[in-house]
Formats: sequence, C-alpha cells, structure tokens
Amino acid sequence: MSETDTKPAPKAVYVKSYGCQMNVYDSQRMADVMGAEGYREVATPEEADLILLNTCHIRERAAEKVYSELGRMRVLKDEAKAQGRQVLVGVAGCVAQAEGEEIVKRAKVVDLVVGPQSYHRLPDLIARAKARPGVVDTEFPVEDKFKALPAASEAKTRSRGLTAFVTVQEGCDKFCTFCVVPYTRGAEVSRPVAQVIAEAAKLAEAGVREITLLGQNVNAYHGTGPDGVEWTLAKLLYRLAEIPGVARLRYTTSHPREMTDDLIEAHRDLDTLMPYLHLPVQSGSTAVLKRMNRKHTRDDYFRLVDRIRQARPDIALSSDFIVGFPGETDADFADTMDLVRRVGFASAYTFSYSQRPGTPGAEMDGQLAEPLKTARLHELQALITAQQRAFQESLVGRVVDVLFEKAGRKPGQMVGRSPYLSPVQVIGPSSLAGTIVPVRITGAKTNSLDGDLVGADGDRRASDHMMTVHAAE
Ligand code: SAH
Ligand code: SF4
Ligand code: F3S
Repeated sequence: MSETDTKPAPKAVYVKSYGCQMNVYDSQRMADVMGAEGYREVATPEEADLILLNTCHIRERAAEKVYSELGRMRVLKDEAKAQGRQVLVGVAGCVAQAEGEEIVKRAKVVDLVVGPQSYHRLPDLIARAKARPGVVDTEFPVEDKFKALPAASEAKTRSRGLTAFVTVQEGCDKFCTFCVVPYTRGAEVSRPVAQVIAEAAKLAEAGVREITLLGQNVNAYHGTGPDGVEWTLAKLLYRLAEIPGVARLRYTTSHPREMTDDLIEAHRDLDTLMPYLHLPVQSGSTAVLKRMNRKHTRDDYFRLVDRIRQARPDIALSSDFIVGFPGETDADFADTMDLVRRVGFASAYTFSYSQRPGTPGAEMDGQLAEPLKTARLHELQALITAQQRAFQESLVGRVVDVLFEKAGRKPGQMVGRSPYLSPVQVIGPSSLAGTIVPVRITGAKTNSLDGDLVGADGDRRASDHMMTVHAAE
C-alpha cells in the first residue's frame, strides 16, 4: 500500500445558497474557511461530512424552504450514521440570524446555527457542535469579519470562473417597512478600500475578468481609503478599473436615494463599468412609497432615470417591484404599471408582498387578500416579460461585446455574457473563453441571445452608438 492510501480521506463540505448574491459570496467564503481547515468542497450533500445551508429570510416562502430541505438532510444524516459516519448540519444566513435558537428547537437535525456576521468563527463553532450539537452564534461581533476570513487559493478562484462577486458593503440602515434585511444583516458597514482592492487584484491575477461589487445598499458605500478619508462607490470603481485584467465592473444593489452625481458620471466616463443598472423602485405610487419608507417619490425616480440616461444613453435598467403592499389601491397599482411603461426596463423582478415578522409593514392596516395580490403580480409580470423580450429583440442586428465563459450545450458552441447580462451563444473555438470579443446578435429569446463572431468590423462603433432602449407597451 502506498503512503497516500493510508491517509484518512479529507473531510468534505457542501454549501447550498439561497437568496441573494451576497449569500453566494458568503457561501464561497464559508467553503474557503473550511478549506483552510482541510475540508474539500463537494457538489452534493451525499458526499459531505459538513452540510451548510445558507438561507434567505426575505419572503415567507424563502424562509420556509429551509425546513423542507432540513427534512431531506435528516434522512442523509441518518443514513450516514447507519454507516458509522458523523454528518454535521449547519444553518447559516438570514434565517439563522432571524430565528436563531428556534431553528434548533424546530429541527433537531440542526447541529449548528450561524449568523452572517460569524462565518470567520466556523471552525471553532463546528468543533463545539461536534462535541455538543445545538450551537447557536447569531452575535454581531465587533471584529472585522472580512479581515478574519481567509482568501481562496488561486487554484480555487480559477475553478470558480471568470466572473466574481466582491462584497464591499453589508447591512442596511434604510428600514423599508416591508424588509427584514436591516434585522438580519445589521447596520451598514463598508469594507476599507485597501481590502477591496487587494481582493479584486487577487481575483484578477487568478483570471477573473468581471467583478460585481455587492452590498445591500452598495451605492451608499463609504469605505475608508488609504488616504484616511471616506471613498464613494464611484471613486472605488475608478480605482478598481485600473487593476490589470479587470475588464468589466458591475455593482448591485443600488438604492435610488444614493445615486450620487459622481456615480452617474462614472457611468458616463468609465468604459469598464457595464451599461446595466439594477435600481429597485418597488412601487410606482408615491403614497405606497411613503408607507414603504423608501423616502423618494415616483417623480424622483423619473428624474433620476433621466439623469442616468443622459449620462449613459445605452444603459439598460432593471428593478424590483412589490405588489400588494398594505393599502395598495387599484389606482396605486395603475401607477406602478404606468411607471414601468414610462421607464422601460430590460428586466425586472416582481414579488407579491409577504408579511414578515418584526417589520412595520406586517402590522399595517389594509393587508390585501392573496388572490388580489396574485392577479396584480401576473399583470405586472406580463408587462415586464413583454419589455424584456422587446429589449432583447432591440439587440438583434447590433454588435455587442461578449465576455466568453464556457462551452455551450451544443457541440462547437461557446457561451458568454453581453454587457446587459444576457447569455449569448455563438459557434466558435473554446479558446474564446476568457476573452471579450464583438458578436453580431442574430436572434433573441426572452433570456438569451444568439450571435455570430465579428472579425475586424468597421461598423461596430457606429452601431454601438445607435443603441436605444426600447420599451414595450
Ligand atoms: N437592498 C435591496 C434589495 C433587498 S431584498 C434594495 O434596497 O432594494 C430584494 C428584493 O426583495 C427587494 O428589492 C424587494 O423587492 C423584495 N422584498 C423585500 N422584502 C419583501 C417582502 N416582505 N415581500 C415581498 N418582496 C420583498
Ligand atoms: Fe431592505 Fe430597504 Fe434596506 Fe433594501 S434598502 S435592504 S429593501 S430595508
Ligand atoms: Fe435573503 Fe438575506 Fe439576501 S434575507 S435576500 S439572503 S440579505
């Protein structure tokens, strides 16, 4: 027997993400923390010794999903036990933060509950849970979590692909009356500029070409710079654009109130900053916006969109909408439909209002019946889908830059992303991966585009400047 055969197999960790992109980022950090402890990351829970569910609490359905998943984990855990193997199950993320102790009481399968601010403590918590299941850590510690989290190895980063997330800001002080995030993620904290630059530089060295900066209110970023003063998101973006290899920058999610002049100017001046902006408005009714505590009116949003489009005429906008917020009348909903028609979105997420425990909205008078909410949701969704299709079709015949990532499903096919985030398929060599090349769009579906590679094409610039965003009625 060789020496390697006698070594115990390394432990394996499986992390499943629900909810937003920040959870995706956090899940990778959790895998990295455990990687530093000798755990390898696996793609299925069946192979794992440690299962972490990184949960979302934003709507009731998201939060409840965890419990059905835990039912499945109990079966896995019992099977492993029968084979003499100990499997630990941990609940992380926003349900962990919101429900804490309750989770252990409700689901005995859970060995560990860990809130988003304690991931750097995972090794210690796991050691404790192994000895005595039922460990709960939902504190908001004073130490800098990000500083304490290990960075992924270069090999690991490479295996994760050409695009990456970097959390630059976490938490929220806005307290929209429907939303749990200020309670699950805590107060707004910005990471220092130097830390963000170092992480981005490392990603770029490992081959990452596109970086998306994350924050619950990312445009409220105010991290301390190396010069000792606070930097805005715009200033950070200009600096990140200088890193060799960083070809594309994005940021999400923005709050309309934090779209400062310098950020709008960055969209005008910075080619690296992609012309696609997710700018949630939630409702088109000023009365509803007021009750939501969004602190802006519908006209503020129109004015803002005008300013952004003046700076960057080809920008594509996306948004989030909640229908059926308490007290929403037919006229309020008509205002939302009207806002969507007037703005014209390239895509948008639509949600039916969900009463969340502990939020002011849950206690408001005028809660709407489910069938009414559903009817409004469908009406809004139909309009958004039509706009999305119209936007995709407006790209047909145009030439757009595509960052190619991987082989497609069909032989000889490569897939990448347009500046507007839609997947683009072409027939082309696998050497395209990691490059950004012009593609003429030949066909559009609701969620993807087909195209042909363009050689040294003289008409490319001209066609780019002709771009307008068409909104469907
Ligand atoms: N920080 C972001 C979004 C956070 S949550 C922002 O400020 O916009 C993502 C989306 O979930 C929200 O934009 C909102 O549209 C939706 N959402 C949040 N709470 C909700 C609730 N109680 N019911 C339905 N949708 C909700
Ligand atoms: Fe939630 Fe509002 Fe904060 Fe966004 S800004 S995370 S919707 S409270
Ligand atoms: Fe969900 Fe928490 Fe993100 S509630 S949307 S996982 S911040």
